[in-house]
Amino acid sequence: MSEPAVFVAWRAQSQRAVEQALSDWVPPGAPAGLGDAMRYAVLDGGKRLRPLLVLATSEAVAGDATAAMRAACSVELIHAYSLVHDDMPCMDNDVLRRGKPTVHVKFGEAQALLAGDALQALAFELLVPGDASVPLGMAVSLCRLLALSAGADGMAGGQAVDLASVGKALDLPALEAMHRRKTGALLQASVMMGAATGQTSANGVTQLQRFGACLGLAFQVVDDILDVTADSAQLGKTAGKDAASDKPTFVSLMGLEAAQQYADRSLAEAHDALNQSGLNHCDVLHALADWVGRRDC
Ligand code: IPE
Ligand code: IPE
Ligand code: MG
Ligand code: MG
Ligand code: MG
Repeated sequence: MSEPAVFVAWRAQSQRAVEQALSDWVPPGAPAGLGDAMRYAVLDGGKRLRPLLVLATSEAVAGDATAAMRAACSVELIHAYSLVHDDMPCMDNDVLRRGKPTVHVKFGEAQALLAGDALQALAFELLVPGDASVPLGMAVSLCRLLALSAGADGMAGGQAVDLASVGKALDLPALEAMHRRKTGALLQASVMMGAATGQTSANGVTQLQRFGACLGLAFQVVDDILDVTADSAQLGKTAGKDAASDKPTFVSLMGLEAAQQYADRSLAEAHDALNQSGLNHCDVLHALADWVGRRDC
């Protein structure tokens, strides 16, 4: 199935805008080389799925475009920081990310740790601009959504479960719970932050939450599948790492075919949630869900 041309154009234009905004906001001048490590971690790579979800949801609810671009970049900064730390020797010990040497390989472990710390702080700084160009109430809502998704009940908690699960055979509910936290939470937050830049009905909020949760889970299941089916050149990161590190994944639990069916079911539910949201401008969100399903890196 080919992608709708309108979506391809929207995605390219939005990715360019996000790239420019990130380049403007991640400071080259942070001291003692920290700025270089931060910019290396963030710029020139990645699919920018999370920013695209923020922008598309904001457009679906006719949200505030200034707040949406700040929210889009803030989520990407949290994501980039999570990758820097995920790759460190104390976690997944990876040397390749987005087709380049990982941040700790290039700049050393201490600088990688600090770059992650600084990117996390910058994410929240972006949501509370000094010129009050994001209304205060909206900034508070955006900060809360981002904090909840990045912290103990979201990404960081999920990463802790991931590390504690090495060598263990998790059952399906435990695996789902881990994936919802470590990856799903930030994707769901991307959707809800986009929604928070505008007005949505109570049902719209409920369905967007369901959309984000299903998409987030499907995304990590596809990540598990690609770790087995794709090669390192295609992924821009080392393939085959999950099995080599004895990590429980959807593929190790149920095999490739059932994992793909699980991802497909989850994506079908994501589309259903959008259809029930009562929102009129969801074409790009539908297309993003399809993109997650068919991605090859
Ligand atoms: C990779 O995320 C890490 C996971 C959460 C599975 P992405 O596949 O979105 O990575 P980039 O941003 O495109 O590099
Ligand atoms: C990482 O999951 C999720 C994060 C919160 C960074 P993985 O460890 O599977 O991500 P990759 O495969 O290294 O990108
Ligand atoms: Mg990991
Ligand atoms: Mg990893
Ligand atoms: Mg992975």
